[in-house]
Amino acid sequence: MNTKGNNNPIGVYDSGLGGLSVWRELHAKLPNESLTYLADGANCPYGGRPKEEIRRFADEAVGALIADGAKMVVVACNTATAAAIDFLREKYANIPIVGMEPAVKPAAMATRTGVVGVLATAGSLGGDLFLRTSARYADRARFIAAVGEGFVEIVEQSREATPEAVEAVRRVVEPLLAEGADQIVLGCTHYPFLREVIEQVIGEREVAVIDPAPAVARRVEQLLDQFNLRAAENNKAQYTFQTFASDDYLNRLKNKAFQIISR
Ligand code: DGL
Repeated sequence: MNTKGNNNPIGVYDSGLGGLSVWRELHAKLPNESLTYLADGANCPYGGRPKEEIRRFADEAVGALIADGAKMVVVACNTATAAAIDFLREKYANIPIVGMEPAVKPAAMATRTGVVGVLATAGSLGGDLFLRTSARYADRARFIAAVGEGFVEIVEQSREATPEAVEAVRRVVEPLLAEGADQIVLGCTHYPFLREVIEQVIGEREVAVIDPAPAVARRVEQLLDQFNLRAAENNKAQYTFQTFASDDYLNRLKNKAFQIISR
C-alpha cells in the first residue's frame, strides 16, 4: 500500500449549496481525498451580477481555500468559472484549478432531434465560455439557452420537493421540450438538485438530462495524477465546510452534504 502522498484537502467552492452536486461526485469517486467546501453564501446568487464583482468574490474564496492548504481547487460554479477562471489560473498559477464547463459536447453528440436545451444562469449564458463551446458544436445541434429563473433560490432554501419547484421548472423546461429538445444540459451546479423535478416535467418523453459533475470528478482525478497530488491510500478523508455567511447557513450546508451522502 502506498502510505506516502499529499493528504492536504481539495478545495471546492461555489456561490452557495449547489457545488455540493460536484462535491458528491468527488466524495464518491475519491474516497481517500479530504475535501474542504467553501460556500460563499453571503453573496449568493451570483447569476445576475456583473463579472467584475463575481471575480472579486471568486478571488477571495479561492485565496482563502489556498491559504488553508488546499492542494487543488475546484470552482464548482459555472457562473464563477465563466467570470473568473482565467484570472484565477493566472493569479494562483502554482495550484491546479478546475472549472465547470457546460456539457454541450456530450449533448451535441447524443442528440437525435438536433435540439439541445441548456439551462444556466444569466451570467454563464452571457459569458464567452458558453458562446465559444456552443459555437464549436453549432453544426451538430441547435442550442436553446434558458435561465433557470428561481432555481438557485429554491435549492438554497431546500424547497426542491414543493409545488413551487415543479411550477418553476415547468415554466422553464416546457418551452424547451416544445422546441424538440431531447437533451437538457444542467449548466449550473445548483440545478442537479432539481433533477427529479425536471424528470417529472419531462415525463414519458425520451429526453436525457446531463449533469457535468461526473466529468469534472474524472478531470480532478487526472490532475491529481498529473501533478502527483494524490493522498496516501490509507489516508482517512476529512470533510470540512466553511462559508462567508452565518452559522445558520453553515448548518444548512452541512445538513445538505450529510443528506447527500446518506442517500
Ligand atoms: N451554482 C452556480 C453555478 O453553477 C451559481 C448559482 C448562482 O449563484 O447564481 O452557476
